[in-house]
Amino acid sequence: MQSPQTRSEPSPFAPAVDTCSIAGMGYFLPPDTVTNHQLALTVETSDEWIIERTGIHQRHRIAQDEATSDIAHRAAVAALVDAGVSPRDLDLILLATATPDTPVPSTACYLQARLDCPGVPSMDLGAGCSGFGYGLHMALAAVRSGMHRRVLVVGADALTRVTNYGDRQSCILFGDGAGAAVVSEGGFLEVLYSSIGADGRGANLIRIQAGGSRMPASADSVAASMHTLELKGREVFKVAVRQMSECIRDAAAALGMAPSDFDLVIPHQANARIVEAVGSQLGVHADNLVIDISQTGNTAAASIPIALGRAREHGRLKPGQLVAVVGFGAGMAWACQVLRVHEK
Ligand SMILES: CC(C)(COP(=O)(O)OP(=O)(O)OC[C@H]1O[C@@H](n2cnc3c(N)ncnc32)[C@H](O)[C@@H]1OP(=O)(O)O)[C@@H](O)C(=O)NCCC(=O)NCCS
Repeated sequence: MQSPQTRSEPSPFAPAVDTCSIAGMGYFLPPDTVTNHQLALTVETSDEWIIERTGIHQRHRIAQDEATSDIAHRAAVAALVDAGVSPRDLDLILLATATPDTPVPSTACYLQARLDCPGVPSMDLGAGCSGFGYGLHMALAAVRSGMHRRVLVVGADALTRVTNYGDRQSCILFGDGAGAAVVSEGGFLEVLYSSIGADGRGANLIRIQAGGSRMPASADSVAASMHTLELKGREVFKVAVRQMSECIRDAAAALGMAPSDFDLVIPHQANARIVEAVGSQLGVHADNLVIDISQTGNTAAASIPIALGRAREHGRLKPGQLVAVVGFGAGMAWACQVLRVHEK
């Protein structure tokens, strides 16, 4: 093993900064897809039901020989190129995932090795589908305090690896993907507001019961499919709509505006009906609401950076606009940011 790189500027002593932005973004969706028709071959469901109840037509799936760090790497490279930053310019890597390559070591360390930037502190964080927003929040704290200067935040999940393909309620929802952002002092998406929260009383609404210290892997736990994700879909639906709406209301109030004043609102892409319900509760016009789930399904921690990246590709991020993003998921945990778009 080579010795860690020596960085010329010891980041803990850098000066605090007033503004913090996303300087570059990228996302990756693996090429293999699973259609509703394919799922209908294994469980009692139909293309029509899935489209009507979720808005999903297909989802992406990682290759047999890939893991979360592989798709995280593709998204990270795209974000670094977009920011014009080399991996060795980073001084922190935060990788949000619920589907690590292995329990030990962290997936962030596999990613760091792939990026070839030894010495850069790297860690995973777990906040379910709101993981990217949690990572962004912590990156802001790190950069604004002056403790770190350039942070790579990645949301990456391969939920198809932990999906129970015998459960028609959940197997239709999830797809794989990764999204990444480079957070630093200057950039094109200035973060004006950031907030995170959680309520552990809802911990059993979305969970994987086995494979941890509570219930280590055993032949029985595997036979009972307890290493796969289970959810109480109807209950999650209601809490997701309520909590994401409240987050956007709070963000708008903090900035002295109304939710309908945001130029774009991007909720976690869990289900098109959840996103629509958030939009209607807040009085957000359909043109200002991002519903982008039909080709991806719910990509968990990658959902927000993928939706944001695709909105940008579609020309929906215009200089001067205010964009609100809100994540929500297992925990229950949520994260909300407001971004001001600048010229890039
Ligand atoms: C799971 C979800 C799609 C189900 O949609 P829904 O409209 O709430 O449907 P319901 O759960 O009320 O079920 C309605 C009926 O459809 C059935 N159903 C569920 N999945 C089905 C499927 N894939 N195909 C056909 N029928 C299905 C149910 O069994 C139920 O039948 P019943 O009335 O005979 O009992 C929706 O609740 C959801 O998206 N929830 C949030 C998902 C989530 O937790 N995401 C992860 C974190 S954000």
